[in-house]
Amino acid sequence: MCKDAIVFSNKPEGVTLEAGVEHYICACGRSKDGVFCDGNHEGTACLPKKVIVEKTKQYHICLCKTSKNFPFCDGTHSMYSDEDIGKGVAL
Ligand code: FES
Repeated sequence: MCKDAIVFSNKPEGVTLEAGVEHYICACGRSKDGVFCDGNHEGTACLPKKVIVEKTKQYHICLCKTSKNFPFCDGTHSMYSDEDIGKGVAL
């Protein structure tokens, strides 16, 4: 988890990831779609998380940016309300 991250959403997003491909998942909460790194982490201490999956299928990607199993959802988002979106993550 990155101390500079902000909560993109308090719900995960179902995203199809292709097997064997490097995906760079946004860890800062500042990318446009909240899922894939687009360089908006610049100036923060955050770096995207590289992930390569073994199976092509839909994965629930963490958008609260505080899952212990990042970049995959572990239910931690339930600690955030709608008012927390766009604010710093709770560490
Ligand atoms: S834009 Fe969020 S980690 Fe790169």
